Amino acid sequence: MSYYIGIDLGTSAVKLLLVDETGAIRREVTKEYPLIFPQPGWSEQNPLDWWSACCEGLGELLEGEDRSLVAGIGCGGQMHGLVALDEKDEVIRPAILWNDGRTGEEVEYLNTVVGKDRLSALTANIAFAGFTAPKILWMRKNEPENFARIAKIMLPKDYINYRLTGVHCCDYSDASGMLLLDVAHKRWSREMLEICGVSEAQMPRLFESFEVVGTVKAGIAGELGLPAGVKVVAGAGDNAAAAVGTGVVGEGGCNLSLGTSGTLFISSEHFGVDPNNALHAFAHADGGYHLMGCMLSAASCNKWLCEDVLKTSDYPTEQAPITAEKLGRNHVFFLPYLMGERSPINDVNARGCFVGMTMDTSRADLVQAVLEGVAFAIRDSFEVARSLGLDIPRSKLCGGGAKSPLWRTIFSNVLGIPLDMVKTEQGPGYGGAMLAMVGCGKFASVQAAADALVELASTTEPDPELTARYEAQYQKFRKIYPAMKNVFPELQ
Ligand code: XUL
Repeated sequence: MSYYIGIDLGTSAVKLLLVDETGAIRREVTKEYPLIFPQPGWSEQNPLDWWSACCEGLGELLEGEDRSLVAGIGCGGQMHGLVALDEKDEVIRPAILWNDGRTGEEVEYLNTVVGKDRLSALTANIAFAGFTAPKILWMRKNEPENFARIAKIMLPKDYINYRLTGVHCCDYSDASGMLLLDVAHKRWSREMLEICGVSEAQMPRLFESFEVVGTVKAGIAGELGLPAGVKVVAGAGDNAAAAVGTGVVGEGGCNLSLGTSGTLFISSEHFGVDPNNALHAFAHADGGYHLMGCMLSAASCNKWLCEDVLKTSDYPTEQAPITAEKLGRNHVFFLPYLMGERSPINDVNARGCFVGMTMDTSRADLVQAVLEGVAFAIRDSFEVARSLGLDIPRSKLCGGGAKSPLWRTIFSNVLGIPLDMVKTEQGPGYGGAMLAMVGCGKFASVQAAADALVELASTTEPDPELTARYEAQYQKFRKIYPAMKNVFPELQ
């Protein structure tokens, strides 16, 4: 018997899984860390907090277990975050995260002066505020002393891999989101590096997600009681890792992730670009590619309303009054742009709004509007995929928000497709463990691991009548953002 550790380095917490070679989860540990908003629309975290949370979490995960059986570790991590290390490999400043909107000017420069066509030709993508390249430009302009000290640039989960192994590495799926990778050819784009004023020597070495980058350093293995030679694979961006975890690999699968962010992930064996670049064209963790739409605030909108505004974390009680006859009939709408928005509107100035309230609007109507607004915003990316001729007859669903049966029903009917939940719905962490199994030779490919390990748990079927009601509601929702778009910049 051997064990594998999957790490999901998320935005609110790190989730660690201990999985045995049959794919059964033996234990799960979550460790939270702070998210810092130094200014409205800015979002940062300290990489040292990630590392301490991982170490503490690993200690707990392995308590009472036969540690000598641990063979491999794989990490899925929040994407796009800029982690900058100096020549002693010390963190220069807090990481600037994927949902940070400070780079409006840099995005404008990249998309208009360098030009979207050029960016797309070089990297298969255009600039979005959360991507890494605009953050490097921001640092060059606003923190020249910090910029001058950069010896290595990496992404959040790469920092964990570096601390575990001492190797500066990155995988293709995560590197795709830096706007520095020539995604089609899976190599750093010299021209993009030049535009950002960094050299290839400052970039980590590239790997496939399931490739072994190194072994856990002796000192750390000693502290954790791990045997010598535990292999660490390159891992993946959290969405690619989640897709592996739900078995969305190979051609034409779809996964929806309802976490802090909300993503629509369509896997493909072939490289392809959305001609309008509304969907990201990234590498997948199975060696192939994917298209992805990402909304910045998904389950986090519900968390914000319930925990920060209504001061409760009892989600089932908040959702209990939202009975079947209320669905598709809400007169209140919500724009879920609490951190601005990425896909498909690419607008850092967009903000959250409740629209349509009357004197009889209830607390439950607002909760319902938030659940529906998030589903409508994902539908926007779904429509982009459809307009590219992609057929999405059904999708997997994962992430914290997917635990709500009500939200599953809303999503299934807003999209008009069945949504499948898998038994191991731990998304990126489980995907990370699967990648480790492939790296350790337990499976010949990511596809083989998915075929052997991923099992369906339940399906939420759309109801034709409710789908029709939600179609009418979605057509109203679509008119709200264009009406507000020009007002948002004045609200800043
Ligand atoms: C994807 C994205 C988010 C983060 C969340 O492009 O920015 O899904 O990866 O962790």
